[in-house]
Amino acid sequence: MPERVLLVGFMASGKTSVGKELASRLGWDFEDFDTAIEARTGKSVSQIFSEDGEDEFRRLECHVAEELLARRNTVVASGGGWPAQQGSWKMVPEETMSVWLQVSPGVAVHRASEEGSKRPLLEGGNVLDRATTLLLAREASYRRARYALDSERCGPRELVDEIMKLMTRKGKT
Ligand code: S3P
Repeated sequence: MPERVLLVGFMASGKTSVGKELASRLGWDFEDFDTAIEARTGKSVSQIFSEDGEDEFRRLECHVAEELLARRNTVVASGGGWPAQQGSWKMVPEETMSVWLQVSPGVAVHRASEEGSKRPLLEGGNVLDRATTLLLAREASYRRARYALDSERCGPRELVDEIMKLMTRKGKT
């Protein structure tokens, strides 16, 4: 069994819902980069982007990643942009099972709009174009995850079933 599971993927790929469900089924903790950043700064992600800029957000994200990726028996949901930051994958400890939850730009934009405006990178202008460009630029970094699962094919429960099956495969993280 791995010591932790790291979920990566584009915005609205289901990292939080799958992560919470997986953690509860395993009896593990759940940690989410954005929530941790908000708790440490007392500011929302949108506020950090607008008041301090994206570079400051990435700096905070890097600190939080270092801390949360050291936890054991924990499901960790990264922010959608973190895997594409320089040096991010080098921070991932060996005994970590990493899973990329795949989503298409169209579905991501649709889900994000239903969840309300809390993603500064998906606001204003031609959102679908922006999501498509961003996802394309990040795909290679998501691909570095050990496993990839299509988040559009089934709901969070089925995705958790699949992750749990993968977790118990011998010798695989
Ligand atoms: C971001 C994704 C967001 C959040 C921030 C930046 C990105 O997290 O970290 O808005 O660069 O893709 P989610 O993937 O949880 O939406």
